[in-house]
Amino acid sequence: MRSMQAKTTNVFSGTNAVKDFLNPDKNPYIPLVEIPESLNPFAKDGVRVFAKLMQMVPLMNVKSLPALNMLLEAEAEGKLKDVKSLIENSSGNTVFSLAMIARLFGIERTKAIVSHEVTWGKLQLLRLFGTEILVNEEPICPDPGDKTSGIYKAKRIGARKGWFNPGQYENEANPRAHEKWTGKQVWEQTEGKITVFCAGLGTTGTVFGAGGYLKKKFPGLATVGVARLPNNPVPGVRTPNLLREIAFDWKSATDFTEEIGTKESFEKSLELCRAGLVAGPSSGFALAGLLNFLSKQKGAGTLDALRNADGEIVSVFICPDSPLPYLNEYFEYLDASHFPKIENENLLINKPDAPKQKTPINERPLNSAFEIEPEEAYEMIYPISAQKTWRLLIKDKKVPVRTGVEIIDIRSRGEYLHFHLPGSKQMESYKIMEGLPKFARAWKDRKIALFCPMGVRTKIIAEALRKKGIEAYNVRGGLTEWSAKNLPRWRPDICKV
Ligand SMILES: Cc1ncc(COP(=O)(O)O)c(C=O)c1O
Repeated sequence: MRSMQAKTTNVFSGTNAVKDFLNPDKNPYIPLVEIPESLNPFAKDGVRVFAKLMQMVPLMNVKSLPALNMLLEAEAEGKLKDVKSLIENSSGNTVFSLAMIARLFGIERTKAIVSHEVTWGKLQLLRLFGTEILVNEEPICPDPGDKTSGIYKAKRIGARKGWFNPGQYENEANPRAHEKWTGKQVWEQTEGKITVFCAGLGTTGTVFGAGGYLKKKFPGLATVGVARLPNNPVPGVRTPNLLREIAFDWKSATDFTEEIGTKESFEKSLELCRAGLVAGPSSGFALAGLLNFLSKQKGAGTLDALRNADGEIVSVFICPDSPLPYLNEYFEYLDASHFPKIENENLLINKPDAPKQKTPINERPLNSAFEIEPEEAYEMIYPISAQKTWRLLIKDKKVPVRTGVEIIDIRSRGEYLHFHLPGSKQMESYKIMEGLPKFARAWKDRKIALFCPMGVRTKIIAEALRKKGIEAYNVRGGLTEWSAKNLPRWRPDICKV
């Protein structure tokens, strides 16, 4: 059969069928859907909110567009001659997409350099699609300039004969994909009436490419870039601190920045899903950022400046992918009240872990990792009340810590400086894991309270330390739960006088 593609009937056939199927130029436009009024608190203000559903592309995620474009441009420049292997630093959508698209360019082998913080579910997904994995010890959003970073390592390996490293963090073909596809489509789909564009900031390719394109079409457009709050995991997007490391001039295309946390992102994603728009955590994140922005504009009385010639505010936010790769995270980050109950749950054969144990701390076994509640941790660490600790912190005075207790915070230096527990020490997790015998000696007869953003990463460390006979404790919910309970912590904004 001759190669044939029809936009209306959606049939792809012939030798290039799959390549055509993955090419946005040969497909109907990616859906743009107005969210229901029940999810739009500004409907009565003449604000219309549209979701650009990037998860509706064949590879089900926004990064498949830059992935395709990076390969198309590299091929056109002759960079793919004799290339048999591809390497990219990414634990998610980019390398997942590259693995499949690369095969269509004759590159059979794709290797992903992933952070050791990546979730198991994500790794299994990559393996399912035939991606090779190389684990690198570094935060999930690495610094591209750091020589130990996966980005740097991928670049080095990519320079070898027979290898190619697309390099999404500095490859202009990334934002160009959003210029020619995402931005152009949104402009045409809104008939040039868009006045607000909002997207999450990861590599910033979307905001820089699509936002930049739309701004050229309509300089009055307001673009909103959404960053994640420090210590708040949301897949695919960065904190303002981590955004400083990005090479693209994304600020030139971003008028406003909003910061959104984990819980809000996952909650908004649930709302979208339940309304029929199957959209993942970073979609909820972008919607929350857009609503924050609109709320501030309304509060400042400046909403009218965002109206188009028809008197409407037409806003578009980007949905990068679906909730399915992150199923476990929804149940980890949101409490049970978000989900329907299961009747006769006790009859199930395959049930997750039993409810949390309530045995007093000193009666719990040393040979298995376990968690303590933030309040229990507080009692274990500090000899004075939380109120007294707060008072000392506000006066910039030293807070006493019980003897024999070590408070270890495994977040990055930047996150630690943002806020931390008084008396805590910042220590990257890989340093603890590499130096286990040394720590086993130093921490013998001590109680170790471990803190990370959500109490997930520290579980593994608590377990490793316990196997060495150390009394290590994982604090449930990590610093997010600690902060939610307003337990004392040093914060530069209120503690520095
Ligand atoms: C799930 C998800 N959301 C958001 C983004 C951010 O998009 P960009 O890299 O274009 O800034 C990414 C990028 O990797 C992503 O995978």
